Amino acid sequence: MKAIVDKETCIGCGLCPSIAPDVFEMGDDGKAHVITSTVPAGSEDAAKESEASCPVNAIKVQ
Ligand code: F3S
Repeated sequence: MKAIVDKETCIGCGLCPSIAPDVFEMGDDGKAHVITSTVPAGSEDAAKESEASCPVNAIKVQ
């Protein structure tokens, strides 16, 4: 499973790192970044939840 954040779309709401801290972190630019492009096995549900919860649909998990 891979996670991608569209930095053009992210508004820096901070939700995804709070839901899936092993997958996403906030960068110095105020946008979310993926920590590792391959989602760790134990974080797949959290990654999916982040994708569904992002207010601007900036996250793709597949
Ligand atoms: Fe950005 Fe969406 Fe995460 S707005 S901080 S990618 S929940």
